[in-house]
Amino acid sequence: MNHLLSIEDLDRAAIERIVTQAERFSEVSDREIKKVPALRGRMVLNLFYEASTRTRSSFELAAKRLSADVVNFAASGSSVEKGESLKDTVLTLSAHKPDAIVLRTPWAGASELVSKWCSAAIVNAGDGKREQPTQALLDVYTLRRRLGEIDGLSIWIVGDVAHSRVARSNIIAFQRMGAKVTVAGPPTLIPRGIEELGCEVRFTLDELASADVVYALRMQRERMSETWVPSPREYASWYQINGRRLSPHQILMHPGPVNRGVELSGEVVDSPQAVITAQVEAGVVVRMAVLYELLSGAREPHTGVERAPLADVATVGGAQPA
Ligand code: CP
Repeated sequence: MNHLLSIEDLDRAAIERIVTQAERFSEVSDREIKKVPALRGRMVLNLFYEASTRTRSSFELAAKRLSADVVNFAASGSSVEKGESLKDTVLTLSAHKPDAIVLRTPWAGASELVSKWCSAAIVNAGDGKREQPTQALLDVYTLRRRLGEIDGLSIWIVGDVAHSRVARSNIIAFQRMGAKVTVAGPPTLIPRGIEELGCEVRFTLDELASADVVYALRMQRERMSETWVPSPREYASWYQINGRRLSPHQILMHPGPVNRGVELSGEVVDSPQAVITAQVEAGVVVRMAVLYELLSGAREPHTGVERAPLADVATVGGAQPA
């Protein structure tokens, strides 16, 4: 794997390989010294053109736990504010020879473009409404840890599917892992033709009790140029996941950030059925596994020179702390 641009590039075996590596890395997170030398000498550049709490912090932690050097770049406060383009920003920062660039932008397909402009491995950390592949991987990881297998599960993705990059990546990933996916929400927030991804569509929550997992989405007002629902209160009355709608056997997921009182009631966010904090925790080990998969190759990306073998993190318990 040279880049992680889309979850579509990963078949079931590749998803399982990354998730299994993440399970091995979870042991590192429980150590007193939370580091292994697996990526010592490599450099990871976090290039964020959009706000982020979970993704940015977990990629930074993931790189540091693998002993890589990390540079964090936020468009706000940078020369982007003076008019520098994405291409010139990437070319400028590539002068520092990053081995990987973790990229979040509001532009669909930006990570593909950036992968053509530099020699670094590119990780798509969210491109507009299109994809968030590492979110899908960490959600698969979280469900596997909680329920064992994903095969045969019924997973309902509820809410603003139209503006959600997480929805698209997760529909694909959950189905590749053997789940049956249903998307549900108001007709204005379900994109026409979404069934072509293989999922079912519902415009009410009448059959929500049949789900094993309820995956709620935030209404992404920052991506809406017009009114898509009459009001948050009306949306909540029809689609909010609350104590009345969530059955006791169901697992509740959400990619964050949550708008309490809109897509989720406070009581379900704080209930033991919610695995939202576990999803955040999974973000670090899954992103460690992604960076490891991309950067532990035998060749130096800039020169093609063969590298010395890396520490065997498959037996990470035996690795020396960095
Ligand atoms: N789930 C997610 O992408 O969260 P952030 O926007 O906080 O990174």
